[in-house]
Amino acid sequence: MENMDIKKTILSGVQPSGTLTIGNYLGALRNWAKMQNDYNCYFCVVDLHAITVRQVPAELRQNCLKTLALYLAVGIDPNKNALFLQSHVPAHAELSWVLSCYTMYGELSRMTQFKDKSAKHSDNINAGLFTYPVLMAADILLYQPDLVPVGSDQKQHIELARDIANRFNNVYSETFKIPEPYMPKIGTRIMSLSEPTSKMSKSDSGDGSIFLLDNKDAVIRKIKRAVTDSGSEVRYAEGKDGINNLMSIYSAFTGKTFDEIENEFSGKGYGDFKLAVGETVADALADIQDKYNVFISDKEQLNKILLDGSQKASYTAEKTLRKVYRKVGFYSIK
Ligand code: TRP
Repeated sequence: MENMDIKKTILSGVQPSGTLTIGNYLGALRNWAKMQNDYNCYFCVVDLHAITVRQVPAELRQNCLKTLALYLAVGIDPNKNALFLQSHVPAHAELSWVLSCYTMYGELSRMTQFKDKSAKHSDNINAGLFTYPVLMAADILLYQPDLVPVGSDQKQHIELARDIANRFNNVYSETFKIPEPYMPKIGTRIMSLSEPTSKMSKSDSGDGSIFLLDNKDAVIRKIKRAVTDSGSEVRYAEGKDGINNLMSIYSAFTGKTFDEIENEFSGKGYGDFKLAVGETVADALADIQDKYNVFISDKEQLNKILLDGSQKASYTAEKTLRKVYRKVGFYSIK
């Protein structure tokens, strides 16, 4: 049997809102790069989702290309995977409409991300923000994936996608594969440096996030300023959220265990530890940035990758969409 046929399928996506952070890298991109040989992969830049909050058009366009160039810079191979922009595959918006008729108002009102985002953007609680999870369900279900790698904050959305898929399958017979969420192992949930109880965010305008395109000075400075506690011992413990987070970051970049890190810094203070974390992160980013700079300066190649990716994605997405249109009873002239 051809290898393609026995490989499981995965799909994931990142919003092109702002620049990706080391949290996106450690929690998503780096794992995707590892999975690309063992899975049949679709990696999407979800630009339709991005406009649920106001975007500056020129920045949105640029952020889409930057996100793609970062996918490539971390080693995600366009020949092995479908890399594409959501807006280039119309089936996402089309299936989203159909699925919205199989999603309940009450279900969407219970989504914690909707509640959080509508509190944060109280001047713009638009219908797209409300139906965001339906579009996400369409992103997923179009590709019939076995697994959807996401951070734990997206688990509720995957559960909703499964509920919608089951509901549709029960009404019309088997149409969608029921996907499983696939969470990275604990320790890769990277928190804000300035507020270590909340997730590191792409849209942080202060010093809480380290962006993949930050230079060495910025990385060292942000880590130096990272919120810690009044103690002085580098130790992973409850109540030491800031230090725990820095230890997670250091561990993720060096492969060292927490025990090893505690030994390495025993008798040394937070200052020495922060400097080591800063140097390590900056070096790792420099490597990614060298590659990024090559990709981002070749727009022709990026366009070609996107065209190719959208064709690969459309092929699968269209197949599912046609099946759905037939099942719900849309008349076809083909
Ligand atoms: N909602 C996801 C996030 O904010 C992004 C996303 C959109 C996504 N569509 C998806 C993730 C499909 C996985 C699969 O992180």
